[in-house]
Amino acid sequence: MIDMVDVCKSYGKAQPAVNRLNLHIEKGEFVFIVGSSGSGKSTLLKLLMKELDATSGSIMVNGQKLEEMKRRKVAKYRRTLGVVFQDFRLLKDRNVYENVAFAQRVIGRPTRVIRKRVPEMLTVVGLAEKYKSRPKELSGGEQQRVALARALVNQPDILLADEPTGNLDPQTALEIMQLLEEINARGTTVLVVTHNKEIVNAMKKRVVAMRRGVIISDEQEGEYHD
Ligand SMILES: Nc1ncnc2c1ncn2[C@@H]1O[C@H](COP(=O)(O)OP(=O)(O)OP(=O)(O)O)[C@@H](O)[C@H]1O
Ligand SMILES: [Mg+2]
Repeated sequence: MIDMVDVCKSYGKAQPAVNRLNLHIEKGEFVFIVGSSGSGKSTLLKLLMKELDATSGSIMVNGQKLEEMKRRKVAKYRRTLGVVFQDFRLLKDRNVYENVAFAQRVIGRPTRVIRKRVPEMLTVVGLAEKYKSRPKELSGGEQQRVALARALVNQPDILLADEPTGNLDPQTALEIMQLLEEINARGTTVLVVTHNKEIVNAMKKRVVAMRRGVIISDEQEGEYHD
């Protein structure tokens, strides 16, 4: 599903944020990306989204070489991904339903499909009853679940989540991670960047640890140490 070969990303003259990185992820895997601040985790996700281009090396996602992808194909490519950020990035003046429906409208999904799929997705994340609420009327965990519903409504092949539990209390963080696990069980390949050691150590998934732009360990049923 994902194959990164000798990938470097430099921002200007500083030490590369990602430095000759090799990473292979199979379809259906659940992978945590861990590492201290500045180790290159977000850069890695942005490379996979083609929000950034690698300085050198090759990135293959779902059979497509990102470095060879034409600009006009990028939007279409991104629709095969679900992306969740720590800061949610919800539309403030739209309610929960609209926030999730919007992702479908953008890709021209027929209204009858949207009317069916949005409530289904909101049920999965446990927010069916709050469909009329605005983001500011929701807790942090609820907002994060809206962001997840929005990322998943297009049935992405890959979910990329950057600190999806960063602002949440431990219980809510665990619930969000369990939701990611369920989504993974339904077939989506999941990559999660997190600093949450307890959750990583409890979940027994593959753990890729980065330091200064390189992978320093990569273990199945891994643990997160400093
Ligand atoms: N837009 C940018 N311009 C210049 N340097 C950047 C830029 N974005 C990131 N960097 C640098 O690249 C390195 C890796 O940053 P990155 O955001 O990938 O780290 P991270 O592992 O996600 O850290 P954190 O856990 O704090 O989110 C850091 O040294 C950072 O200062
Ligand atoms: Mg980051």
